[in-house]
Amino acid sequence: MSKDFLILYGSETNQSESIADQIYAKCIDMKLDPRVCRMDEVDKEFFIEKETLAVVVVSSTGDGDPPENAHKFFKKLSRNSSDPDFLKNLEFGLLGLGDSNYSTFQGAPKKLEKLLLGLGARKVLETGAADDQVGLELIVEPWCEKLYEYLAKRFECNPEDPLASTLLTKAPNESSAVPVIETVSDVKMDEEESNSNLLPHLGIEKKEFPSDGPCLIRGSEALISDENLRVPVAPQAFLSSAATHIKFDESKVKWQNGDRFPGQFSEPISARVVGVSEISPEGEVRKPKRSLEILITEDSETASRFLENCDAGDSVYFVFPNPKSEVDFILQKLSLLPIADQELSVQIDSKTEKRDPKIPAFIPNPCSLRYILTYCFDFRRAPGRPLLRIFAEHAKDEKEKRRLLELCSAQGVQEFTDFVRQAAISLVDLMIAFPSSVPPIDRIIELLPRLIPRPYSVSNHQSRDGKRIRFVYSLLNFEATKGVQFDRFGVCSSYLRSLQVGDYVKVILKEPSKFRLPPLSALTSSTSTLSISEAPLILIGPGTGVAPFVSFFQKLLSEKISKNLKTDTKRYLFYGSADLSKEYIFKDELESLNREGIITDLILCESRPESGTDRPKYVQDALKARGKEITELVFSESSPKALIFACGDAKGMSKDLWACFQEIFQEHLKKDPQEVLAILKKLKDEERYIEDVWS
Ligand SMILES: Cc1cc2nc3c(=O)[nH]c(=O)nc-3n(C[C@H](O)[C@H](O)[C@H](O)COP(=O)(O)OP(=O)(O)OC[C@H]3O[C@@H](n4cnc5c(N)ncnc54)[C@H](O)[C@@H]3O)c2cc1C
Ligand SMILES: Cc1cc2nc3c(=O)[nH]c(=O)nc-3n(C[C@H](O)[C@H](O)[C@H](O)COP(=O)(O)O)c2cc1C
Repeated sequence: MSKDFLILYGSETNQSESIADQIYAKCIDMKLDPRVCRMDEVDKEFFIEKETLAVVVVSSTGDGDPPENAHKFFKKLSRNSSDPDFLKNLEFGLLGLGDSNYSTFQGAPKKLEKLLLGLGARKVLETGAADDQVGLELIVEPWCEKLYEYLAKRFECNPEDPLASTLLTKAPNESSAVPVIETVSDVKMDEEESNSNLLPHLGIEKKEFPSDGPCLIRGSEALISDENLRVPVAPQAFLSSAATHIKFDESKVKWQNGDRFPGQFSEPISARVVGVSEISPEGEVRKPKRSLEILITEDSETASRFLENCDAGDSVYFVFPNPKSEVDFILQKLSLLPIADQELSVQIDSKTEKRDPKIPAFIPNPCSLRYILTYCFDFRRAPGRPLLRIFAEHAKDEKEKRRLLELCSAQGVQEFTDFVRQAAISLVDLMIAFPSSVPPIDRIIELLPRLIPRPYSVSNHQSRDGKRIRFVYSLLNFEATKGVQFDRFGVCSSYLRSLQVGDYVKVILKEPSKFRLPPLSALTSSTSTLSISEAPLILIGPGTGVAPFVSFFQKLLSEKISKNLKTDTKRYLFYGSADLSKEYIFKDELESLNREGIITDLILCESRPESGTDRPKYVQDALKARGKEITELVFSESSPKALIFACGDAKGMSKDLWACFQEIFQEHLKKDPQEVLAILKKLKDEERYIEDVWS
């Protein structure tokens, strides 16, 4: 009996991909014969209409949109949507990843399910809806268990087969020895030396854990006394790296080996920092804001393509290094500092039993340990359970080993969610909290996700500024709490803050989303006659969310000047700050745009002003106060109708705005909640309500 089937994933930031990989590994252990493919490999690596079983893991990005590497697959299904038998041979199990902070929670998985069912495919499992807001594992784990039960039945695996039940096994007592880098044993320092004085590298003092109650290093009573922990088997080792005595020359390799990542539109190009300024003073506001201006200095085809395609509403990725202090800490803790800058060759371990092992395509060959830890791997991202399992395997202290096993056990899923995922601990936190565990670097890099550059919204328009691009960013600040061992800043935002005028950066244009003026669909749709200068706009941008709207307004101003337009189109900007006296992004520019009539209604909100104010507290309050006129603009009988755009980084903003519009339309359209919900969904579908919310 053929045990072949397809595991498909669509992923923007690796999470679906890593779950698909875990499912693949488990299925291999079950002696099944799966193939794992990215959705955009459709019609190359697989033909979905020829498949009989597909296990699909997909997330949402943007505003309920599929990840970039899933677009092609969604398009193919949509193109065939009139044929109800197109996928009549296909059965599928679908796991959706999302975040309930977004109003379009599970937007892409829901759309995919509808498409698959409409094309005649049949569901073999209830669709899983994992929520990053509370912890993906809470849904992913039980969903995968059900999937394995189903696969065992379908492919008649013997449930007693030891390999078939290896996902969850009793905690082992013995740790197996895993080889370290082959050629570096001669440079290993003795343990005392390698463990001493590590923390000063970070300029930190280790915070003490509370003595009562569960925390990262101590479990709850129930977990401590559980004698039957079920833990995943340690993932198979498959990499083996070797260092030479030649010094690695970083300038000879392409950043991340030239390997593309989802969302990447252009190749990386160089730009010079030409402006940095503080918008709100550090220490006085929770998330201080700064602006950064770069000049595209590179004179290449890539640079021209970048500039030609960069439009108002788009975002640009910044390539950034991981903090040197943390890289040094990891290297020293692993006794690898002396060879950190030597050429390293990463190979597949010839003794591996892992099926289809792959060297990550984003690692250059040769590279160096410092290079890959600085530029290739995201060690700030909370470790997954496989990495905890590896740390348990290598813990010399029995108490540490036990706690690590608890955290990756089936019974410990809630504590894993609380103290690892939600606390957002990093590899360095893990190493500090469990000092007796020193796994080989190969075992660690096998399990670290790729470092993906962070995108920032363009806040000016090139037609005015040529090769200059301006951004506004918040400096994120995380306090040591729960398992987090030291205070830190957001990794990319602190890199941006370190930049000075004259420094060079590498930037990459992000694939355009629908968050454009006019929306991307209006450009591609032949029926649309939308003129951007005529469409009334309701723009909601608290905090840094105002950034892309400034680029919209500059674009409108350019058009007004170049075409000598005299329109009185209504354009509202709802801008919010905690205290406008401390933080008012682009104050002079917004006020000038307001005087010019580009912004007809500049509506300011203030949530925590030092002195009294009669301004609305939140943008939602201001929207409700103008609910009647907004409703009239959005549903006016005359064309064009208003477009709503919302942008920002506030947690829950997307959901709160959705609820706010529900309330407004219910009151002013006099419809019941269900009708209003359908109206709002239609606005989203027609791309007249567009969000770009990151939290
Ligand atoms: C399309 C798009 C446009 C964007 N535009 C802008 C913009 O114009 N301006 C702007 O400022 N940002 C913007 N962002 C956000 C930006 O890309 C980054 O996500 C943001 O700057 C944070 O990156 P970082 O590396 O500094 O933080 P990171 O170190 O990546 O931390 C970010 C997140 O990780 C988690 N986290 C990390 N450490 C901890 C901890 N110790 N405790 C709890 N949680 C933790 C939190 O969820 C936190 O929100 C945009 C994002 C997108 C997707
Ligand atoms: C910029 C951004 C936009 C997002 N938009 C949505 C969304 O509209 N709906 C949703 O349910 N989740 C949304 N999410 C949450 C992701 O889908 C979720 O974090 C998921 O676990 C990511 O999986 P991936 O790494 O495989 O892409 C968004 C996340 C980010 C960073």
